[in-house]
Amino acid sequence: MATILLAINADITTLEVDAIVNAANNSLLGGGGVDGAIHRAAGPGLLAECRKLNGCATGDVKITNGYDLKAKYVIHTVGPVWHGGSRGEEELLVSCYRRSLEIAAANGIESIAFPGISTGVYGYPSEKAAEIAVRTVKAETEKYPGLREVIFCCFSEQALRIYERLLSE
Ligand code: AR6
Repeated sequence: MATILLAINADITTLEVDAIVNAANNSLLGGGGVDGAIHRAAGPGLLAECRKLNGCATGDVKITNGYDLKAKYVIHTVGPVWHGGSRGEEELLVSCYRRSLEIAAANGIESIAFPGISTGVYGYPSEKAAEIAVRTVKAETEKYPGLREVIFCCFSEQALRIYERLLSE
């Protein structure tokens, strides 16, 4: 059966899905934005596990348990910092979505929620980032029949409108 793709406006830490994706940094030791919110909601066990992971390369992922979250797993990915688009940003952002789905499938995850990776502090233009997210997820989920649902978890009405338009195309 085809994977269901949907967009919602919510705090990703509240979602009852198998895995939520964290927009982390290379250290994996926490930060602001969605990263800070996930660490606060998951509790100190998450940071303790992250300390053992030796960081994460940009465009790559690492998976941990979800601790106090409703989600069983957190998939930490590191998005590119936006420098105007000429430093491989698109390819790296595609890789974040692709690798997240790959590791999700490898762990038997059936439902996953993504934040708008790189669209906060890292400055990736929201519209461009959403196009990459939807395009990559649509293409990649065809490989993973076990993935039942992918949620694009927006954090503003404006972001939600962009995703709703892209998903209806
Ligand atoms: N639920 C869902 N989305 C959220 C939430 C939330 N609770 N909080 C923020 N967002 P950002 P980045 C949205 O800055 O750009 C951290 O310090 C937010 O509106 O969290 O990838 C890391 O440690 C935006 O659309 O991540 C890194 O140093 C999106 O999440 C750096 O920020 C991403 O914004 C990563 O920057």
